[in-house]
Amino acid sequence: MKKYYELDEELRKVLDEVRVQMQTTVISYPERNPHDRVWGANNYPGNCSGKVALGFVDKLRADSMFELCAGSGTNYDMCKDYDIGYCGIDLNPNPVRNGIKPMDLTDMTQEFPDEIRTADMIFSHMPYPGINRIKYSNGAWKDTSNLSERDIQNMSFEKGMQEINKAHMRAYLSMKPGAFMVMLVGEIRSNGKFYSMNQALCLPGEFYQSYVKIQHNTWSGRQGRTYGNTQRALTGHEMIAVIRKPGGYEICYVMPRHYELDIRDSKNMATWKDIVTTTLKNIHGNASLNDIYNQLEGHEKTKSNEHWKEKVRQTLQRLAKSGVCKNTSRGYWSLAA
Ligand SMILES: C[S@@+](CC[C@H](N)C(=O)[O-])C[C@H]1O[C@@H](n2cnc3c(N)ncnc32)[C@H](O)[C@@H]1O
Repeated sequence: MKKYYELDEELRKVLDEVRVQMQTTVISYPERNPHDRVWGANNYPGNCSGKVALGFVDKLRADSMFELCAGSGTNYDMCKDYDIGYCGIDLNPNPVRNGIKPMDLTDMTQEFPDEIRTADMIFSHMPYPGINRIKYSNGAWKDTSNLSERDIQNMSFEKGMQEINKAHMRAYLSMKPGAFMVMLVGEIRSNGKFYSMNQALCLPGEFYQSYVKIQHNTWSGRQGRTYGNTQRALTGHEMIAVIRKPGGYEICYVMPRHYELDIRDSKNMATWKDIVTTTLKNIHGNASLNDIYNQLEGHEKTKSNEHWKEKVRQTLQRLAKSGVCKNTSRGYWSLAA
C-alpha cells in the first residue's frame, strides 16, 4: 500500500475518514466514493463502498487482498488507487476489470486463482439470497454462459447460505496461515419473513471481531418504506465478521444448523409446563383430560415417566395457580387468556 505522503489529497482524506470509522465496531460511510472519482458502479445491485474494504486492509495491515464476488470492480479500483495487491473472482463470464477472473463458486471443479494463497486478506461480499428483485445473471451483467442457476442470488435463502458457507470454507482452506477473511453479509426481509445471513454464517478459524455497517441509500429507504406501527423496524445495517486463520493441518469451524423438534419428544429441554401449555393452546378452547392425554400419548416425554398422566394433572393445577390456565368444569381445562 502506498505511504500516506505518496497519496493525493483526496485519497488521504478518504484514508483519514476510514481510520476514524475503524476505531469502533460501528462503521458508516454516507458517501460511497471519493469526491473526485467513482470506484466500481454506484448502480450495481448490492454494491458496497470501497471504503469498507480499505478500512480493513489498513487496520489489518494487509498488503494484498483477494475478493470473492468482485461485482462492479469497486475494490479493484480502490486497490489500484492505493497500490494494494488485488485479485478477485465473480460469476460474471465477462468480468468488468482485468484483475477479476470469472469463477463459479458453487462449482467444486473450479479452482481459485493462486493469488488467494498469498493474499493477506480475503474480502467477501456474497449475494443476499432470496431477495427476488435483484438479478445478477441477465440483470447486472449479460449471461453469455447460461449461469442463471449458478447465481447465488437466484437461490432460496437456505440453498444460497449452503453455497456461501461452502465457498467460505473453500476459501479458508486456500488462505495462508495468518491471513484474515472479512465477510460482509446482510439481514433480509423477504415476503414478510426475516432472514439473517449473519446468524446462518459458517465461521472457520478464529473469530476475530464483528462489525456493524450502517446502510445508506438502501432500496427500501428509496421506496420510502417504513414499517409504521408494526412490530418490525426497517433494516438499517449489515454485519461484518472477521476471522483469522491460524496455521497447521487442523481446521476448526462453527456451522449453524437448523433443528426441528416436536417438543413432546424432548426429554430434557422442554418442561412439563412448556408441553402442557402448548397442548392446551393447540387444542383451542376447552380440553378434556382425555383430549390432552391423546395429544401426548406415545411421545418421548411420556415414555420417560410411567406416571405421566398424574404429572399432566399436577402441571395443570400448578399452571392454574399462577393464572396461566383454568379449570372450566370437572375434568376440563383451557388457557386463561
Ligand atoms: C453483492 S454483489 C458484490 C458487489 C460488489 N461488492 C460491488 O461493490 O460491486 C455479489 C456478486 O456475487 C456474484 N455471484 C453470484 N453468484 C456467484 C457464484 N456462484 N460465484 C461467484 N460469484 C457469484 C454476482 O455476480 C455479484 O457480482
